[in-house]
Amino acid sequence: MSPPRERLRIALQKSGRLADASRDLLARCGLKFRESRDKLFCFGESLAVDLLLVRDDDIPGLIAEGVCDLGIVGRNVLREQAFAIADGVDAAPYRELRALGFGRCRLALALPQGQGYAGPEGLAGLRIATSYPNLLADWLRRQRVDARVVVLSGSVEIAPRLGSADLICDLVASGATLAANQLREAAALLECEAVLAGPRALPADARGDLTELLLRRLDGVLQVRD
Ligand code: PRP
Ligand code: ZN
Ligand code: MG
Repeated sequence: MSPPRERLRIALQKSGRLADASRDLLARCGLKFRESRDKLFCFGESLAVDLLLVRDDDIPGLIAEGVCDLGIVGRNVLREQAFAIADGVDAAPYRELRALGFGRCRLALALPQGQGYAGPEGLAGLRIATSYPNLLADWLRRQRVDARVVVLSGSVEIAPRLGSADLICDLVASGATLAANQLREAAALLECEAVLAGPRALPADARGDLTELLLRRLDGVLQVRD
């Protein structure tokens, strides 16, 4: 655990799909930041709330370790990491505080076009390439299917053509990536979007109060958006 802090610290994705929308959302909540020169740490000027700009995959761990109090991250990353940090989403030291309505996509199985999908049973013995091995393994377990999980950190969509997997399990947003790789979606495992993640119980101190204030403002902003 990191040393005690008075100021609240929020982890955001530094660059990538969620980065701009995350910053915009906090701005609409009235938070203003003075950016440091390396831009990894942004000092909050309107409230005692600072930002840490990091790789999205690191956000769950930073919250679990208490380095950051809150984080904006995809549900897919939050849940995948819950298996690395704890025994899955229910055992994780953090939880989803709010769904934020942007960065919508789904974790889905996709197979080469022209190949039929006979349901989960038909996956037995097949090789599935993914960057989400824990979420996929958990889903396979719940379907009681024995398939092989091939872990790739990126370019998952090319695996079937290379012959290193029979199908893939990856994020689908517009579907353009699947179409460009002659793949078609077979089944959705998890609906995803950006979420605000935080501790299971708010600390009974200034940071807890700041979190409650931020959540009230966030609820106002999210309501206007609906
Ligand atoms: C995700 C995913 C697909 C793509 C899907 O990758 O892995 O490649 O987005 O989106 P689409 O359905 O709109 O084409 P991302 O670009 O986030 O980067 P990564 O694969 O490097 O993680
Ligand atoms: Zn990432
Ligand atoms: Mg991709």
